[in-house]
Amino acid sequence: MEDKKVLYSAIQPTNNLTIGNYVGAIKNWLNLQENYDCYFSIANMHAITVRQNPAELRQKTLALLALYIACGIDPEKCCLYVQSHVPAHAELCWVLNTFTYVGEMERMTQFKDKSLRHAENINMGLMDYPVLMAADILLYQAQYVPVGEDQRQHLEIARDIAQRFNNALTPTFTVPEGLFMKVGAKINDLQDPSKKMSKSAENPNGSIFLTDDRDTIIRKFKRAVTDSGSEIKYDPMSKPGVSNLLSIYSVFADKSIAEAESEFNGVGYGDFKLAVGETVADRLAPVQAEQAKLLADKEYLNTVLKKGAERAMKTAGRTLSKVYKKIGFYQI
Ligand code: TRP
Repeated sequence: MEDKKVLYSAIQPTNNLTIGNYVGAIKNWLNLQENYDCYFSIANMHAITVRQNPAELRQKTLALLALYIACGIDPEKCCLYVQSHVPAHAELCWVLNTFTYVGEMERMTQFKDKSLRHAENINMGLMDYPVLMAADILLYQAQYVPVGEDQRQHLEIARDIAQRFNNALTPTFTVPEGLFMKVGAKINDLQDPSKKMSKSAENPNGSIFLTDDRDTIIRKFKRAVTDSGSEIKYDPMSKPGVSNLLSIYSVFADKSIAEAESEFNGVGYGDFKLAVGETVADRLAPVQAEQAKLLADKEYLNTVLKKGAERAMKTAGRTLSKVYKKIGFYQI
């Protein structure tokens, strides 16, 4: 355990996760947990940068923990914890703020996007979001940070801040590297296969959420757009709809695209879509059942979080006290 490299990632508990997130993030973490010293957090402090319903935020925090575990992330192997349980995140964020320029935060694309979407609430936290994320990563001296493409700019800033601090006050932080998941099969929107499947698509029928029940999943797949012609062939250029469905099938049935194509050779679009829907629903059902079971055992979940917070606090506290020393905070 001691000589494994440290890996850090987090998900906001407010994200309504799709099968795209599952394939792109959580499913990859399953392999990573075997080879790295992993910290996976529930980023509730990031979540409040846009207004949340408090009761919902609380509930979604536990739901995400239960989902992590139901998907196979093992709390015995990884440190699973809630960001706000570890005060060092806020504390390091404050110090790092003094190594971050207002101008560079104003230029962040996600800040600009969110400012447009939440024009009534462009709060300081929204602008500070990347610095808090840098604090998350740097506290654990993480070498690797698996994230989606949308977090590339935030990761660059985390590296810049780490280097800036190291240069100003002697090497302190590991400069993290992003692991940008080449999502084996990139999953696109069922209604508009030219776009990535997203939690906030205009048409909710285009996204399959991990919380969707069997009927909903099958209904959405039945309505998925296909392409002209009738052949079930992987050809993203001329058959984006069918190709997306084949990718989804291949991931959820653990089969190659070629195997999937031959399996559906001569099958009509309607039956094909039904088969893909059933496969996805069958695959998600045990995860959903396990998540529900875990959510009914709050005591167990609290034990996991307590253990996680203790472990995270120990690692994070070590880094924070180094930082405080280097920066000249008088210690008693
Ligand atoms: N901002 C990330 C997202 O929305 C979540 C996140 C918070 C994160 N802190 C992190 C990801 C640290 C990686 C490392 O996807």
